[in-house]
Amino acid sequence: MANVVVIGLQWGDEGKGKIIDILAEQADIVVRFQGGNNAGHTIVVNGKKHIFHLIPSGILHPEKCCCIGNGVVIDPAVLLEEFKKLEENGIELTPERFLISERAHLIMPYHKAIDLAREAKKGKTKIGTTGRGIGPCYEDKAARTGFRMIDLMDKSFFEKRLKTQIEEKNFYLTQYLKAEGVNFREIAQTYFKYAEKLSPFIGNVAQFLWKAKEESKNILFEGAQGTHLDMDHGTYPYVTSSNTVASSICSGAGFPINAIDTIIGVCKAYTTRVGGGPFPTELTDSLGNYLREKGKEFGATTGRPRRCGWLDLVVVKQAIRLNGVQKLALTKLDVLTGLDEIKVCIGYNYQGKTINYVPTSFSAIAECKPVYKSFPGWKETLKGKSWKELPHTAKAYLEFISDFLGIPISIVSTGPSREEVIQ
Ligand code: GDP
Ligand code: IMO
Ligand code: MG
Repeated sequence: MANVVVIGLQWGDEGKGKIIDILAEQADIVVRFQGGNNAGHTIVVNGKKHIFHLIPSGILHPEKCCCIGNGVVIDPAVLLEEFKKLEENGIELTPERFLISERAHLIMPYHKAIDLAREAKKGKTKIGTTGRGIGPCYEDKAARTGFRMIDLMDKSFFEKRLKTQIEEKNFYLTQYLKAEGVNFREIAQTYFKYAEKLSPFIGNVAQFLWKAKEESKNILFEGAQGTHLDMDHGTYPYVTSSNTVASSICSGAGFPINAIDTIIGVCKAYTTRVGGGPFPTELTDSLGNYLREKGKEFGATTGRPRRCGWLDLVVVKQAIRLNGVQKLALTKLDVLTGLDEIKVCIGYNYQGKTINYVPTSFSAIAECKPVYKSFPGWKETLKGKSWKELPHTAKAYLEFISDFLGIPISIVSTGPSREEVIQ
């Protein structure tokens, strides 16, 4: 298997968690390298649903190691809650199999407060963030005023910086955003308690991965969000605050780019998006509702209904080029079962011309009208079917996608559980 990166090719929620869980069987180590608990990765094993926001989706395989890289922003309360849930399910985390980068930044209570108050102030023009403080935390990282995991180990430094930070943040929160301020003592005490619980797990993830590489271990990198939520390459400003593309494993985990063997892109058989922003193939009619209900398209993090639409191959092709994707994992094909007609977008009509890329300005994307190709659907269930046994119309759909994108489909997922997959 060697070293593999798994990346979402749309606007997130493509089913990355499920694909990671399947691939983790062949891996030794699974690593998150960007984003935070804005992510919600769902895995269904033996009928039980697990949702991970920070802990890599390989954790259900008891013998695998999991790491949180320096590029992730960590809300310690959420991480400890995940520890607890795993323990309730009989999975105990030990420092031998779980490592958090000492360089990863901490989400602080004022980050969350700022995220929520800003969105409220924006009203109709809000981004539709998850409200988890992700943007404000990455802002502080770039401004060099953030807290890293390692800072939890130095009480006096932590308190000193916290004092100045709170002075500034409370001014912004109360005077500009008209929201409530936060309390220094309360935060300091809470975070020192977190420090006690987390300190055994904090270490140098990059060094750990270099050693693993030298020992020829198989490392699996788990992307969060999706390519079109990338801060630089996505539908800015309706994006998240990290680089979600595959190359950010270098900055986000300290892993060298030439040690990556395979990049796998995960793509749903249709498209969803949660939060604001342009979405050319969105279906706002009964068909959109049908996909949402049948695909259970409600956010794994916030529970918000996801916007649904046809598969947009312009979006997916652009993501394949940006990431250098070599293989496709196509999920949720079962959700299309029963439809008479299935459409895919193969270009956009934009100002009288057909284009095959996603324009840069979000108002231009909003003007794009999809050019569709139509396929007949299938009625028979896909449950338990091998590639050969798939209905010929489903195969034709998949073959067109693979030809259009110019890469093979190596995994087809036909249901939420581990077993519902064709490899
Ligand atoms: P992620 O953020 O990319 O990991 O995706 P989410 O977990 O947020 O959303 C994907 C949802 O689809 C989850 O509820 C999964 O259990 C579910 N899922 C994954 N693959 C399939 C599939 O092939 N068919 C169906 N019906 N559901 C799937
Ligand atoms: P996974 O890893 C889908 C979206 C939010 C919002 C925008 C910015 O589960 O695929 P943020 O809180 O990051 O500042 O919000 O990004 N978003 C996601 N959408 N899946 C995700 O993660 C997402 N993480 C962030 O809905 O539109
Ligand atoms: Mg998700």
